[in-house]
Amino acid sequence: MATRLPRAGLLVFAVLLAAFRLADSSTDNSSSKVRAVNLGGWLVVEGWIKPSLFDGVPNRDMLDGTQVQLKSVGLQKYVCAGDGGGSNVTVDRDAASSWETFKLWRISMNEFQFRCFNGQFLTASDGDVISATADSPGDFETFYIERNNTLLHIKLLNGSYLQVTDNNQLTSNYPSQPGWDDAMATFEMTIVANNLHGDYQLANGYGPDKAKSVFEEHRKNFVSGSDFSFISQNGINAVRIPVGWWIAYDPDPPAPFIGGSLNALDRAFHWAQIYGLKCIIDLHAAPGSQNGMEHSASRDGSVDWPSEANIQKTLDVINFLAQRYADNPCLLGIELLNEPSAAAVPLDTLVSYYKTGYQIVRSYSDTAYVIFCQRIGNADPMELYQAYLGATNTVVDLHYYNLFDPYFEKLNATENIQFIYKNRLPQVQSLNSANGPLVFIDSFNQIGSHSHFGKMLSPFLVPDAISSYCVPHRYTFMLICLTPGVMIFRRVGK
Ligand SMILES: *[C@@H]1O[C@H](CO)[C@@H](O)[C@H](O)[C@H]1NC(C)=O
Ligand SMILES: *[C@@H]1O[C@H](CO)[C@@H](O)[C@H](O)[C@H]1NC(C)=O
Ligand SMILES: *[C@@H]1O[C@H](CO)[C@@H](O)[C@H](O)[C@H]1NC(C)=O
Ligand SMILES: *[C@@H]1O[C@H](CO)[C@@H](O)[C@H](O)[C@H]1NC(C)=O
Ligand SMILES: *[C@@H]1O[C@H](CO)[C@@H](O)[C@H](O)[C@H]1NC(C)=O
Repeated sequence: MATRLPRAGLLVFAVLLAAFRLADSSTDNSSSKVRAVNLGGWLVVEGWIKPSLFDGVPNRDMLDGTQVQLKSVGLQKYVCAGDGGGSNVTVDRDAASSWETFKLWRISMNEFQFRCFNGQFLTASDGDVISATADSPGDFETFYIERNNTLLHIKLLNGSYLQVTDNNQLTSNYPSQPGWDDAMATFEMTIVANNLHGDYQLANGYGPDKAKSVFEEHRKNFVSGSDFSFISQNGINAVRIPVGWWIAYDPDPPAPFIGGSLNALDRAFHWAQIYGLKCIIDLHAAPGSQNGMEHSASRDGSVDWPSEANIQKTLDVINFLAQRYADNPCLLGIELLNEPSAAAVPLDTLVSYYKTGYQIVRSYSDTAYVIFCQRIGNADPMELYQAYLGATNTVVDLHYYNLFDPYFEKLNATENIQFIYKNRLPQVQSLNSANGPLVFIDSFNQIGSHSHFGKMLSPFLVPDAISSYCVPHRYTFMLICLTPGVMIFRRVGK
């Protein structure tokens, strides 16, 4: 890391403040509390943390999940899957909204499938007319793109180009190879959202061979033994390590995921032992995606986790992790699922998963903490306290976002920290007194964001020893509140 140039991206080592303890202790001694740092963007990719990971992807604005609209140059109308899918495509809309927006599934740098609003795919399986009726994509649903900036020619794998007709249909019978002035076979593409940059997009964007070397390099260098050393020397006693479900399939996980994260997790445990840290393994990405975000490795923003098959597969991953690490003295706990979506994951489904996951971990370890993350979105964390998820050493992970709200942008570093203490305290206290699981707080802060980058560093908060580490190690922003329990790290991604 030290040899690299800094770039604009930031890596959040989130604040993890925990009311649970490293060892059994009846005294309220803050030094035994868990003060952990989240090793984000390492074994689960988050593009905003390290944007340069994507630099070498060809057509990198057309990744899985990118949302596009297509306007016929000839008709000056948008391509539309009426009702969100289920019938023939029309090219008759003056304005584009959800029915005119398609999510890309990337097959190669030039081959894509188009997913409609309700989940079906554009298909050429019905003869000449393109329809929005395929439930799962194959060759008939795969389109080859020739691109000239925002202009596209689109052809089927059999070589036939798409065109629009005067009666507003989309057909696959353009008679020849179109030129860029052949308006009826040329489409203007608007990218309306391109906000998923996770493991799926990175691996599938590069394709298997190149992806392997990109992931290898990243996993080897993004977090290293020197980070563990630094962390342990600065009052932190644990790390939370996000992992993806494919770790259980190492070294050959299902495509497009790339093996090697298990090896990296083993190395993390090795460093943890050397530097006296504990590890929380956090299942951050579950099969099908539990929140539709890049950090759950969603392909296109869909949340498909809550199915029997996916949940069983997830429990198998927990079993794998618990079996492998239960006897490791550095294991502090296993977090069963990061940030399930309140909108898409029903509480009873989650509670049932959490209870079974708890039992699996307990079958290997009497002491490892079992950590339950609250649902994100519109859900009260109390819902997990009332669910009786497990008998011993349970923890609820609360995620407080001091960001995404203009209110926080006005706060300086100290005020941000005070906000956690003052405004979040009543809830934490009420949860703590609810006589249920212990509380673990993940707090994500805007401090040092792109807009304030570098300006908030306040020398009186940052001991010299830390500043002198920060610079050579590219921790260009680090804030430490010396009040026990809260630390915020940020550093430059690359
Ligand atoms: C916590 O425990 C350590 C070691 O036993 C002791 O040195 C320290 O003074 C204690 N701190 C507090 C705040 O009680
Ligand atoms: C789609 O178009 C074809 C060809 O014009 C027509 O035969 C078919 O009935 C249409 N299907 C629907 C669902 O509108
Ligand atoms: C390719 O497939 C489409 C859709 O099935 C069909 O309309 C077209 O005629 C085919 N083209 C060739 C060259 O076979
Ligand atoms: C791109 O399209 C324009 C017309 O819009 C054309 O003049 C130009 O030659 C095309 N570029 C390539 C590389 O084909
Ligand atoms: C943050 O703002 C407060 C006023 O609310 C001020 O007292 C404090 O010095 C500021 N801290 C920093 C680090 O700028």
